[in-house]
Amino acid sequence: MAAAGSAVGLGNIWGFPNQVASNGGAAFLLVYILCCFTVGYPVMVAELAIGRNTKKNPVGAFKALSPGNTIAPLIGMWGVLCGVMIMAFYIVLAGWTFGFIFEQSAGLIGMSDLKGQLSDLSNGHKNAFFSSLFIVLTVWIVSRGVSSGIERAAKTMMPALILLLVFMIGFIISQKGATEGLLLYLRPDLSKINSTLIVSALGQAFFSLSLGMGALITYGSYMDRRQNIPRAAALVTLADLSIAFLAGLLIIPAMYVAQANQVQILDDQGSLISSTGLVFSVLPSLFDSLGWLGTIFGILFFVLLSIAALTSTISLLEVPASYLIDEWGLSRRKAAVGAGTCVGVISIFVAYRPETIGLMVNVFNDFGLPLGGLLICLFLGFFWTSKSALTEIESGRPGSRDGIYGRVWSVCVRYICPTLILVVLCHKFGILAV
Ligand code: TRP
Repeated sequence: MAAAGSAVGLGNIWGFPNQVASNGGAAFLLVYILCCFTVGYPVMVAELAIGRNTKKNPVGAFKALSPGNTIAPLIGMWGVLCGVMIMAFYIVLAGWTFGFIFEQSAGLIGMSDLKGQLSDLSNGHKNAFFSSLFIVLTVWIVSRGVSSGIERAAKTMMPALILLLVFMIGFIISQKGATEGLLLYLRPDLSKINSTLIVSALGQAFFSLSLGMGALITYGSYMDRRQNIPRAAALVTLADLSIAFLAGLLIIPAMYVAQANQVQILDDQGSLISSTGLVFSVLPSLFDSLGWLGTIFGILFFVLLSIAALTSTISLLEVPASYLIDEWGLSRRKAAVGAGTCVGVISIFVAYRPETIGLMVNVFNDFGLPLGGLLICLFLGFFWTSKSALTEIESGRPGSRDGIYGRVWSVCVRYICPTLILVVLCHKFGILAV
């Protein structure tokens, strides 16, 4: 449940629809689903197996599996760096989400001036304030340990989020203009598949499933030997994919409904406008158009989304924190405060310059996470060996090592995932003209 809580977050509700909008609709959805199953799932199993076997943070885990080797722990260090940088912008988005609870509430009690100020995404002071609140909350929870509280929060948050999304989808698709959005989202136009789309889909899959930086190595280290890793990873992947799918089913038609109400949603080339603030402008205007009932739904929605974001920021901070605890010998409290302060300083910069978010996504998500995933696969497949990993998996799922599952998974981790990731990364740098 904690891993599912880590996976489900703003990546599903903010990132995914935004990517669908900028990459031509259903074609992106199709490639994204393929990326989740062919690359995401095997990498998730790999991370969980490494974590559970070593019972260590990402840096310590690579050290433990390759004693004396000075290069392998760098994979973990890269993960820690990506974690800090991703969290620095994630927290600003989480601050927006948090702020919208108050924005909707201000609307409910008729304070329209305050509502206007709270919906301004470029207001640096406001961004810094809400991001800081969110960091303090995350640090407080992480300093108390990855506890059953997180699992309980994830357990209630996810079904509630699904229910609310389904209700809102039901409403939106009965509105004028929605059909056009539905078609764009569900009827793939394969000519839209190009290299940019594939790079984005892979980056989004890594981000949404929380892969490539050792978050799931850390969570795996808290797992019991009897737990079934393949099954847990499958459930997390499916839960994450379902919530992203529902979010797209809501946001894309909602954009066309907004268009029917004279809001401009297409650019000069006729493509959907997408931007960092997309979801944060479409959803509030959707809630506003529904009167006071919409506002109540708005508050509920942003509360749930804040909880989803919180269970994700916890996993992001847990990586540098567990590194500081294990490798530097700090107490959990000091580690959480130290890592949180470091993230906080960078995020203040992002809060005042939200336009930098796009660049950070580009470097640390679309490049950093797949690179981390590639190194994890290669390390596991050829250094630690997939046989050893399968022996670890075997303890919670008998029959994995010698059965068909083990064989297929080994081929994926050793050959298929690295090749796909490498091709995509090379292409990102224009080295290969695929
Ligand atoms: N998966 C989360 C989301 O979709 C974000 C996240 C949490 C993450 N932990 C992570 C992304 C670790 C990459 C790595 O919102």
